[in-house]
Amino acid sequence: MSRPDLIDRLARAQAGRARQSLLRKLRTIEQVDGARIVIDGKPLLNFASNDYLGLAQHPALTESLVRAAGQWGVGAGAAHLLGGHRDEHAELERKLAHWTGRESALLFSTGYMANLGAIQALLGAGDVCVQDKLNHASLLDAAHLSGVELVRYVHADGASAKRQLAARAGTPALLATDGVFSMDGDVAPLAELAALCKTQHATLMVDDAHGLGVLGDEGAGSVNEAHLTGSQVPVLMGTLGKALGVAGAFVAGSAALIDGLVQFARPHIYSTALPPALAAAASAAIDIARFEDWRRDKLRRLVAHFRHGARERGITLLESRTPIQPVMIGVSNVALVAMQSLEAQGFFVPAIRPPTVAQGKARLRVVLSARHEEADVEQLLNALARAIGHARTER
Ligand SMILES: Cc1ncc(COP(=O)(O)O)c(C=O)c1O
Repeated sequence: MSRPDLIDRLARAQAGRARQSLLRKLRTIEQVDGARIVIDGKPLLNFASNDYLGLAQHPALTESLVRAAGQWGVGAGAAHLLGGHRDEHAELERKLAHWTGRESALLFSTGYMANLGAIQALLGAGDVCVQDKLNHASLLDAAHLSGVELVRYVHADGASAKRQLAARAGTPALLATDGVFSMDGDVAPLAELAALCKTQHATLMVDDAHGLGVLGDEGAGSVNEAHLTGSQVPVLMGTLGKALGVAGAFVAGSAALIDGLVQFARPHIYSTALPPALAAAASAAIDIARFEDWRRDKLRRLVAHFRHGARERGITLLESRTPIQPVMIGVSNVALVAMQSLEAQGFFVPAIRPPTVAQGKARLRVVLSARHEEADVEQLLNALARAIGHARTER
């Protein structure tokens, strides 16, 4: 009996992607200085980082990290339940709970794992997970890996979500949505979804990876901005690797939720704890993110400038008021050529293509940050207009 060689099969799939201009390429960044980076020896202005508030290189974070590493060393050495949990983790969990207005919070090493841990702990065989079509891959994967029924509703469409829930009346249900959609930048209709979950007796989970630090009072996120309480959004997930500039993630909610996750969330139980020095850096980041409102004010100004300038130049943007400002292109290889043209002009803006986004929806994902200046945005707009014109004529 013969079997296919799995590595050959993978290579053939890769060749197929290359033929469709869909190959992903790993780039190594050689230097970072705020929004300025160097790739292949070439200085570029970076419009790709999710470091929205500009904290990843903040000296207060580095100092906290170095101080904690001096005390504890680098690795936590064990999972949280087996001796990996330190003061820095406990303090960070308290701060996250307080910031998001929840009773308690639990750390995970990544956002991918936090989503997996929460969904797999809350749902089991026979249950249903109802998700927005454009949710982040980690939420979709979490439902698949938990072995539950995954049903999707039309993007940001409460009526479609309602139809999906109503068709499964009586089945235990979790409705999960991104707070801010990672590839489109728009904000979920959270108040509508919360009202729907109440009438349908479903539990609402919000992944606020891109809202935390950016939206809401003191940057407490999209759920805070929508004035939703812990009983309306019982499961709130956030990441530490985007606006907070560190790495890791958490789930916040009632003490009952967090106690349950400690017992049943496998990625928390069976994985080495985040290094305590990273937890210390994240605590320092929260203090800055909460109280330095000027960073959010600056972001809002940059977003307004970018959108106004794009309109003036006939550049098509998606409807977004967050720092994620996708430039719609459509065809994958046009997006790729536009990205290359931007790079030749000194700008790093990744082309996002299928399968990350749907066929025909390739785009340039522009991300603004408090590290940018108005002049940077103006230069980007001019370069974008040239790059798009060039990519369309090349085609
Ligand atoms: C909406 C959303 N959820 C979850 C994640 C995963 O977070 P992490 O990078 O910490 O795994 C990301 C991005 O990485 C994201 O954009």
